Amino acid sequence: MGFLVLEQLVKRFASRDGTGDVLAVDHVNLQVERGEFVTLLGPSGCGKTTTLRMIAGFESPNSGQLVLDGAVINDRPPNQRDMAMVFQSYALFPHLSVFENIAYGLRLRRLPEAEIREQVAHTLALTGLSGMEQRAPNQLSGGQQQRVALARALVMSPRVLLMDEPLSNLDAKLREQMRVEIRRIQQTLGITTIYVTHDQAEAMTLSDRIVVMNQGRIEQVAPPREVYTRPSTVFVADFIGQSNFLPGTVVAQEHSRLTVDVLHQHLHVPTDAAAAPLQVGAAVNLLIRPEAVRVGPHGLFAGIVRQTTYLGSMVEYTVAVDGTLVTAVDSNPLRAEIYEPDSPVGIDFLDGCLYLLPAI
Ligand SMILES: Nc1ncnc2c1ncn2[C@@H]1O[C@H](COP(=O)(O)OP(=O)(O)O)[C@@H](O)[C@H]1O
Ligand SMILES: [Mg+2]
Repeated sequence: MGFLVLEQLVKRFASRDGTGDVLAVDHVNLQVERGEFVTLLGPSGCGKTTTLRMIAGFESPNSGQLVLDGAVINDRPPNQRDMAMVFQSYALFPHLSVFENIAYGLRLRRLPEAEIREQVAHTLALTGLSGMEQRAPNQLSGGQQQRVALARALVMSPRVLLMDEPLSNLDAKLREQMRVEIRRIQQTLGITTIYVTHDQAEAMTLSDRIVVMNQGRIEQVAPPREVYTRPSTVFVADFIGQSNFLPGTVVAQEHSRLTVDVLHQHLHVPTDAAAAPLQVGAAVNLLIRPEAVRVGPHGLFAGIVRQTTYLGSMVEYTVAVDGTLVTAVDSNPLRAEIYEPDSPVGIDFLDGCLYLLPAI
């Protein structure tokens, strides 16, 4: 039994244009363990925010249950759930200092002044804000404002920390720094965290487990590395990282490997490198990531370079093999040469990097 459990959660909205219902969250099941960092990841509109808002109590499910530490909390108002939420928009009080923004919730709890000072000071230090307590929010950078929003949530010692796209308003460099900071703080406190983002790199860096959502449903729940190397659906593979999907057919199975006919060549794939059990004759999508495709003078497949993109740390190629386009990324700094468009090349797939998904 998880610490926070979502059981068959459903949320419908009357559509905004009045044409019917939107099934925003469609029978979602999830178990989050104490101290875990779990990220809801998916494209815009897939139901992440609605799921988070139901956990927080800002939205009530049409059906299903929310269980926190063994107790059903469906009917508890937000302020009795012992959770804190951090929003993309920071939502700081503009007329209060950093100190008073952070102290706000503790004052509502009527804690003694000395205790408030101590807890705020501790949280300021934890979030790297010491020395800024007397500033007003408009005297802070975006990154600092987001730290205050985080501090304001953490100072309440919530049992669950909820964050909805908290870094979306920051520029790329700051976003990367804040990712590392958020992870450090979460680990220091061991606080159970549910984080929402549409940014796969953010989800990869931060999470113990990633929940990939699509159209209100969960497609996969797994640690970052597993989501990347063993995606359970084409949607997951496509959403996370770059992918080549090559159509193929299983032509043999012996011992613990499958033989797959792909682009007129036979490739061997371990039976367990497949999202689902596959029979001989099954149509498959062979997944191979661009970084596992090697481009050279010779290779198993003969192709023609269609596009070459030089990115400094790497070179990206689009290679046509029998009319099928394959993307390759070469990040070897000792690469012998860069192939220009129209060059004949050979390509190979790195052993151990092939993965099979049933064709849909
Ligand atoms: N208050 C609402 N009224 C009507 N439709 C809504 C409402 N909130 C969300 N939706 C719809 O529910 C779906 C999921 O939205 P949301 O949870 O915000 O997705 P995400 O956070 O993944 O972008 C979308 O189709 C959205 O338009
Ligand atoms: Mg959202």
